[in-house]
Amino acid sequence: MLVNGKPYRTVWMERGDVKLINQPLLPHRFEIHTAHNHLETARAISDMIVRGAPAIGATAAYGMAQVVMAAPNGPGREAAIRAGYEVLRATRPTAQNLFHALDRIWGAVKNLPASEQAGAAVTGAETFAVEEIEACRRIGESGAALIEDGMRVLTHCNAGWLACVDWGTALSPIYVAHRAGRRVSVFADETRPRCQGANLTAWELAQEGVPVEIVADNAAGILMRRGEVQLVITGADRIAANGDTANKIGTYEKALIAQANGIPFYIAAPTSTFDAACPDGGAIPIEERSPDEVLYAYGLTDDGRPGRVRLAPAGARARNPAFDVTPAALIRGIITEYGIVPPTREAIGRLLAGARKG
Ligand code: MRU
Repeated sequence: MLVNGKPYRTVWMERGDVKLINQPLLPHRFEIHTAHNHLETARAISDMIVRGAPAIGATAAYGMAQVVMAAPNGPGREAAIRAGYEVLRATRPTAQNLFHALDRIWGAVKNLPASEQAGAAVTGAETFAVEEIEACRRIGESGAALIEDGMRVLTHCNAGWLACVDWGTALSPIYVAHRAGRRVSVFADETRPRCQGANLTAWELAQEGVPVEIVADNAAGILMRRGEVQLVITGADRIAANGDTANKIGTYEKALIAQANGIPFYIAAPTSTFDAACPDGGAIPIEERSPDEVLYAYGLTDDGRPGRVRLAPAGARARNPAFDVTPAALIRGIITEYGIVPPTREAIGRLLAGARKG
């Protein structure tokens, strides 16, 4: 997608370095972050320089390529690769794409002669990233059929191209409909505490010229009740075998409000986000992040300096679960690269069996 008219991906590899759009600096500064080795790539994931499940997956794939490139020849090689794989696995717990990507690269190289592994890992990571771009483009094609001229769509967190390698998941259908000339506008939940909606969704939609209004996280009720929202689409961090879906904290309540007001609620995600081994939402690990993210607000001061301000009384305690689970019963459909599927065990089983066959 375009940044000041120039096409960018969220993550790519250049001469062994992993290059990332530095997301915590947005929307105030656009900078590229460089991770020179897999430890720096792991830190970029855990520090949320890159965030969003598909983008995390692609970054991990490139990180795994760095692990293989740097592994010593000789007896310690496999142990070194295994250790690097574990470092990357430990970066964040909820997004399934991370584990999917690491297993895919390790699976592609582990039975090759050592001399061929580095080349295969780099090619495998690039192929994976390109496939994710194509999956997101196809999600856009499928989901755009839901968007009629004049619709107002509510989304939560950032599930746009910044959260993926390109196109996005929840925002991809909006981009496709907009480019086809349909008038579509977006309500972007601000998404406390990290404010991915206010910082990232609003920024990337504006870059594409899609009309967007940021709303407080607790505004969805009145907007939906008044009939100002016709459709809700969010992304996903992990989808269990029965269709229960983990996504950014606050998604569950948006699905409940949508159901109470008869508004269709859709999830958009590539098949790399599905976890067939996870029977239902109760088995999805939910990340707990630092209480400071709740106790402080982060941004630019009026004189343009980045900083944080404390919101809560000194000594106040906070909880910060980063994701919640929306039960399948609240989801109208899941928009994937293979079309829109119902959130049922049977349909998801068929989808993943078909995806494995290619
Ligand atoms: O904690 P984050 O920022 O990595 O959270 C991930 C997300 O951006 C959202 O949950 C998103 O809706 C799913 S990823 C397209």
